[in-house]
Amino acid sequence: MDARLQRRVQRYGWDKAAAYYEQYWSRQLDPAQRRLLMLAELKPGERVLDVACGTGLVTFPAAEAVGPSGSVVATDLSDVMVARVGEEAGRRKLSHVTAQRMDAEALDCADASFDAALCALGLMYVPNPLQAVAEMRRVLRPGGRAVVAVWGSRDRCGWAEIFPIVDRRVASEVCPMFFQLGTGDNLRHVLEHAGFTGIDVVRLPSPLHYESAEAACGAAFAGGPVALAYSRFDDATREAAEAEYLASIEPWRDGDRYEVPGEFVIARARR
Ligand SMILES: C[S@@+](CC[C@H](N)C(=O)[O-])C[C@H]1O[C@@H](n2cnc3c(N)ncnc32)[C@H](O)[C@@H]1O
Repeated sequence: MDARLQRRVQRYGWDKAAAYYEQYWSRQLDPAQRRLLMLAELKPGERVLDVACGTGLVTFPAAEAVGPSGSVVATDLSDVMVARVGEEAGRRKLSHVTAQRMDAEALDCADASFDAALCALGLMYVPNPLQAVAEMRRVLRPGGRAVVAVWGSRDRCGWAEIFPIVDRRVASEVCPMFFQLGTGDNLRHVLEHAGFTGIDVVRLPSPLHYESAEAACGAAFAGGPVALAYSRFDDATREAAEAEYLASIEPWRDGDRYEVPGEFVIARARR
């Protein structure tokens, strides 16, 4: 897919998903975000960059860890996500948190200006992840660390059919390389290519729990990466896509509930 189109799909898709995101995803993503924050070992006074911050599920715990003597710059491609983080920072009176719209591939930040750069579940959406990781490295001080979490390999993510199901109903693929970074040693290789050293990678099996078919569909369609395509579907197309998705996760249904396999890959590296 053309990189500009992919960025547009992401930007406006996440604008739409923002209102549903925490409701559907905060529980499911918590294990990956917690592990990422643990590996980041943030200390009071540190300067942190949060790339692809979404609604701030990593931004705010990071802000607490570094305290008011530190700072967190939260960045995302979606205006709506950035606005939400800015408003929430204001509501919590956290003057050391700022939110700015930025493409992960072109960070508007000075060289060597952060102690830690974090990116939780954002790199899969970036057209050129190597460029994004190189940008994270550029803005880190020597010895600073990057911690990155992505979804694991396709065969370990039971909800993976959402992409082909939506792709069959739109003119172009929504997220063509989604599982690439989480497959084999790819995340390590991308970090190595960008010049990082001391790379540690963990794989974290983490099933997705849904209380109902409605919750499973809400997370997959309205609250996630295919939100833009979904918003343009008519009722019949929505119904057909949802039925197909539910059939794809049927093996993991138990009564009304679902426990769908999932996997995260989390890496820590040093500049
Ligand atoms: C699944 S959310 C993750 C949000 C947050 N980091 C978290 O852990 O909850 C993915 C985010 O990536 C952002 N995103 C997608 N493409 C991006 C890009 N090229 N540059 C910056 N952010 C991007 C989306 O707008 C969305 O907010």
